[in-house]
Amino acid sequence: MVSITLERSFTGGTTPLEREVERLGPWFHNVHLPNGLQTAPDHPLGDFPSSHWQPLATVLADDLRGRTALDIGCNAGFYALQLAARGAQVTGIDRDERYLAQASWAATQLGLERSIKLVKAQVYDLADWQQQYDIVLFMGVLYHLRYPLLALEVVSRLVRDVLIVQTFTMPDSGSSVPGEELTLSTRDKLCAEGWPRMAFIEAMLEGDPTNWWAPNAAAVEAMLRTVGIPATKRLAAETWLCRPLGSRALADQQTEMYRAATGREFTTTGSLHGG
Ligand SMILES: C[S@@+](CC[C@H](N)C(=O)[O-])C[C@H]1O[C@@H](n2cnc3c(N)ncnc32)[C@H](O)[C@@H]1O
Repeated sequence: MVSITLERSFTGGTTPLEREVERLGPWFHNVHLPNGLQTAPDHPLGDFPSSHWQPLATVLADDLRGRTALDIGCNAGFYALQLAARGAQVTGIDRDERYLAQASWAATQLGLERSIKLVKAQVYDLADWQQQYDIVLFMGVLYHLRYPLLALEVVSRLVRDVLIVQTFTMPDSGSSVPGEELTLSTRDKLCAEGWPRMAFIEAMLEGDPTNWWAPNAAAVEAMLRTVGIPATKRLAAETWLCRPLGSRALADQQTEMYRAATGREFTTTGSLHGG
C-alpha cells in the first residue's frame, strides 16, 4: 500500500453528520460510524484500511484491557480506534493536524474518546518520549521518511511487547542470507535479487512528494534486525510482526550517531519508565 492523493468523496451532505464528515475531509481512512455512515466510502483502495486490519485483528488479543498502544502516523485513527474498541489505552501521533482532527472527531462519534490520546508529533519527536507501549503500530509511514533507519531506531525503544510494521515495498521476492559479509570483490551481490536495498525516489510517486523510499522486503527485515526488533512473523505481503530482543544495545559508534542525530541517549527496553 502506498499513500494516494484523495479527492473529497462527499458532496452536498444532507444530514449534519454528513456535513461534518465533508467538512473534515478528504479522508484517507474509511471509518464506519455507528449510524452506518462511512467517511470514505468511495476510497480507491476499497474499504480501506479494513482489509489491512484483518491480519492484525487475528494476531492481537481480542481483550486489550490494561494494555497500552501507540499508533504512529495514526491518520484518521482507524487502527487506534480498533485497538481502543478492544480496551487498550491508545496514543496516536501524526504530523498532520487535519488527520488528528478527523481521528478526534471519529473517536467521539464512536464513544472512544476517553481511550485515545492524540498528539501532533513527528516520529523523530519520539526520541524524547520516556514511555513504552505494549503494542506499537508503524503502519504506512516508513517510506514517507527521509531518515527511515533513524526512525526505526527511535521507535524500537518504545516497544515493550510487539511492533507491527507495514510499508510500501519495491518488487523483489528474493531472500538473502541475513547479515552476509561482503568484500570489495563480492560487491556484485549488492545487485542480486533479495539483497536488502531501498530505492530512493527523488521525484514523486503517485503524486505524493513525501514518498521517499521503496525498500524491498529483505531490507525491511534487515533494518528491523539491526535495530534489535526482528520480524518474527510476516502477517501480509508488506506487514511484519516484530518482537524486541531481551537486551539491546547499539555499538558504540551507533550510540554516538544516535546521540548526535537526536540529542538523546539510546535507552532501550527495561531502562524506560513503563506505563
Ligand atoms: C500512508 S498514511 C498511513 C496512515 C495509517 N497509519 C495507515 O496505515 O493507514 C501516512 C501517515 O503518516 C503520517 N506521517 C507521515 N510522516 C510522518 C512523520 N514524520 N511523523 C509522523 N507522522 C507522519 C501522515 O500524516 C499520514 O497520516
